[in-house]
Amino acid sequence: MPNYNTNNTKLESLVSLAKRRGFIFQSSEIYGGLASTWDYGPIGVELKRNVKEQWWKSFVTNREDIVGIDASILMHPSVWEASGHLNNFSDPLVECKKCKKRFREDMIESNSCPECNGELGESRQFNLMFKTFMGPIENESSIVYMRPETAQAMFVNFDNVQTTTRKKIPFGIAQIGKSFRNEITPGNFTYRTREFEQMEMEYFCAPQNDEKWYKYWIEFSLNWFISRGIRKDKLRIRKHTNNEIPHYSKGSSDIEFKFPWGWGELETISNRTDYDLKAHSKKSGKDLTYFDQINNERFFPYVIEPAMGADRSTLAFLSDAYDEENHKKEKRTVLRFHPEIAPITVAVLPLSRNEKLIPMSKKIYESLLGKFNVEYDDSQSIGRRYRRQDEIGTPLCITIDFETIEKDNSITIRNRDNMEQIRISTDNLLKGINDQLESIKNSYI
Ligand code: GLY
Repeated sequence: MPNYNTNNTKLESLVSLAKRRGFIFQSSEIYGGLASTWDYGPIGVELKRNVKEQWWKSFVTNREDIVGIDASILMHPSVWEASGHLNNFSDPLVECKKCKKRFREDMIESNSCPECNGELGESRQFNLMFKTFMGPIENESSIVYMRPETAQAMFVNFDNVQTTTRKKIPFGIAQIGKSFRNEITPGNFTYRTREFEQMEMEYFCAPQNDEKWYKYWIEFSLNWFISRGIRKDKLRIRKHTNNEIPHYSKGSSDIEFKFPWGWGELETISNRTDYDLKAHSKKSGKDLTYFDQINNERFFPYVIEPAMGADRSTLAFLSDAYDEENHKKEKRTVLRFHPEIAPITVAVLPLSRNEKLIPMSKKIYESLLGKFNVEYDDSQSIGRRYRRQDEIGTPLCITIDFETIEKDNSITIRNRDNMEQIRISTDNLLKGINDQLESIKNSYI
């Protein structure tokens, strides 16, 4: 693990850095912003893409038992009737009789309004699905819903996927995509938003093996975060209480991260049993059982679901990586991302804009394009450029100076975490970069 100096990152520091360095901007900012909606900037989009790509590799491409799909956000309304979301996917809402503000009853501590102390009205269930209309006529029969989870596409496509891939259980179907929930109280930056991205996988197994796979996916998911650099002591597993367990689940556990405001869910692993496949079979009339050729029997498989939030996980990586230290009487802010997660892997920095340095610097930059996520920067003093790369968490900076040009074609590679520089020949550039990246990766083990 790199040496961290900071343990309790403040949310304000993250929000400010995210804006200053192009990670995350408020959506529609020039119009005053739209509540709880955020846009990923040029650095943030690389960070989030890395999180998603790492997930996809671990859950899909590096395994023989899981395949992916990419389904529509809008689905037939019957999907949400069968899945139980139309009747059960709601939060308890209370309204203040005095200031008329609305709150999620289970998220407020007192019996009076948290804003004005006024009396609260009766609690009622508020369905979280966003409604819209399909086609030009806006009436009951044209209502469709923006999916509140990506999972249902895996269930309604179970037969399509199983017959086209000929997978035998246990096997999984995974998807990364946007979901929408009309949260009563969104907040905490990108943690709880009404539009968000999920990384979900439905693992179909024999009913008698459900507990084994439930435990397996909890362990696998926890290790996934740790192996991508999140500190162990900032993660924990928390079993759902009876009050919070989703309507489709026999048992659920959260993997939580210690955010600046406290512990918050990154992922829920649920034992969905045969709830969804049975419900869709009944509603659609399509047989969604699985035929086990060995035992010559048909049954509904059970499903274990690891459901991870892509935006929350990205925020957790950002929050965990944030560190501050004193360096030469100045504060140095550095994001200690694991190299697989870092938005930029290598920065190429000529010592100055001196015309002698530029052609060689550009040549080195171009030779690395396509091999790493690489950035070229010759804008300000070299010290400021190092600070900027530290603040976006770039593991390695390559500097081209006059020794490179006038002496021996050697360049320096600077390590983000300890700021040490080594000088190597450009002939060994790729090996030098890979060795340094490997040593940073190994520091997380
Ligand atoms: N599919 C589980 C969830 O969206 O939370």
